[in-house]
Amino acid sequence: MTVAGLELITRTPEATELLGSALAGLLPDGVVVALFGDLATGKTCLVRGMAAHYAGGAPVHSPTFTLVNQYGVDPALFHLDLYRLGGPEELADLGYEELFEPDGVCVVEWAERAGVLLPQKRLDVRLFHAGGDARKLVFDDRGVMPGGWEQALSAVMDGA
Ligand SMILES: Nc1ncnc2c1ncn2[C@@H]1O[C@H](COP(=O)(O)OP(=O)(O)OP(=O)(O)O)[C@@H](O)[C@H]1O
Ligand SMILES: [Mg+2]
Repeated sequence: MTVAGLELITRTPEATELLGSALAGLLPDGVVVALFGDLATGKTCLVRGMAAHYAGGAPVHSPTFTLVNQYGVDPALFHLDLYRLGGPEELADLGYEELFEPDGVCVVEWAERAGVLLPQKRLDVRLFHAGGDARKLVFDDRGVMPGGWEQALSAVMDGA
């Protein structure tokens, strides 16, 4: 089955951040956002925008050594980066069951490394290089987004 996702193009890092903060404003609590994409496609940049929504301007760096960072409380944004994940047992050590049923939102870079442990219900975002500074982001809702989210996100890009 092919899922026709919402495709958006950003042309600057700022536009990707803006998209992240708009996305965060639309996400219901308890959602996992799975990010897939090569190096430097803008995954952390998108998370930076999301974190602005939860923690108003706190600096965001990928949690390379800790694997998970938290921005804000009640609701919080949990930010996982699985690039350096050694194996599924490390996800167990991190307490993935709770992270994947978050009090707030959990966003996961290199989500493919979680394999079958990723929840079935989630939002997938695939990021691609699209020439120069352009990035293509493809959003696939797997049963978590509220009605009208596609129009709301597209509208953000119309103004950028
Ligand atoms: N349209 C754009 N959107 C996002 N980033 C962009 C864009 N154009 C250029 N960039 C640059 O691309 C890089 C994206 O870095 P970022 O850390 O967000 O990528 P990443 O996907 O998280 O990479 P990694 O897999 O290493 O974690 C930054 O240097 C940013 O300035
Ligand atoms: Mg990153």
